[in-house]
Amino acid sequence: MNNKYITAFAPASIGNVAVGFDMLGLAIKGAGDRVSVRKVNEEGIFIKEIYDQAGNPHKDLSKKSDENTASIAAEALWGAEGGQGGIEMLIHKGIPLQSGMGSSAASAVAGAVAVNALLDQPLSTEKLMKYALEGEKYASGGIHADNVAPSLFGGMVFCPPSYLPKTTSVEVPKSISSVLVHPDLIVNTAESRNGLANNYSMSQWLDQQSYLAGFLLGLQKLDLNLIKNSMHDVIIEPQRSGSVGCFDEIKKATMNKGALGCSLSGSGPSIFALCENHIAVEIKTIMMEIFDSHNIDSQGWVSPLNASGAYVET
Ligand code: HSE
Repeated sequence: MNNKYITAFAPASIGNVAVGFDMLGLAIKGAGDRVSVRKVNEEGIFIKEIYDQAGNPHKDLSKKSDENTASIAAEALWGAEGGQGGIEMLIHKGIPLQSGMGSSAASAVAGAVAVNALLDQPLSTEKLMKYALEGEKYASGGIHADNVAPSLFGGMVFCPPSYLPKTTSVEVPKSISSVLVHPDLIVNTAESRNGLANNYSMSQWLDQQSYLAGFLLGLQKLDLNLIKNSMHDVIIEPQRSGSVGCFDEIKKATMNKGALGCSLSGSGPSIFALCENHIAVEIKTIMMEIFDSHNIDSQGWVSPLNASGAYVET
């Protein structure tokens, strides 16, 4: 039996990208989770250890294999694809929990990608979607792929729930960056989703449709005005932005500096902006300084829109 660990990395991601609730996601560069796996004789998936960002055993995550998105995704794949024997797993959480950065999705993706590499005939990346989604379903209580899909494929991905597991990558311009800032706050995605209203007006629905279409067309044509005029969320953001006290202040400051748009990343509390590359570092600094002025520590990342998806490292 080959007993070496195989490690997969899966990046963090921005869910919704303001205009595409549950159907548009964007990978980011520099933050992600790692899952290492090796075969063992005993049947089953065994989480040996989960490490936090500092490399210490994680205090907040269960090592039960039916309570972790990485092992749930791995088990679904291994069971369905005829894996023989069992798997021992190490999980390295590079993404803070309940951060709005797709932490549970990245673990699920890294789990699926790592275990796939142990199969005699590994599946194509497309075929891993449904298994990674099994893990994400456990964490968020619903089927949405706007974190799983960009974490798996990289870049920006259009992934409406009704098309799944099929998804479509969006061609993105090189001249635009994403800026993601994570404040030291937490928001539980499942609770945040449960708190959303069920009924919306015709005018909200029309606006949101036009914004999603305009945003995607703006990216395709590299029409900065169209992107900027379209990067609005009239439905979800107003219901959630109160969870970050200085959200309005940050949004106003980034837009004044020339950002194309600014919104919550997923269910928050992380906030992201899109902007032309040359002002990205300045926008990140502005966002972090505002958090700092409210005595909230934060971490920030600047990424190209075509950041890489998950891959096997060793
Ligand atoms: N689309 C999901 C939501 C993403 O907004 O609830 C969660 O990160």
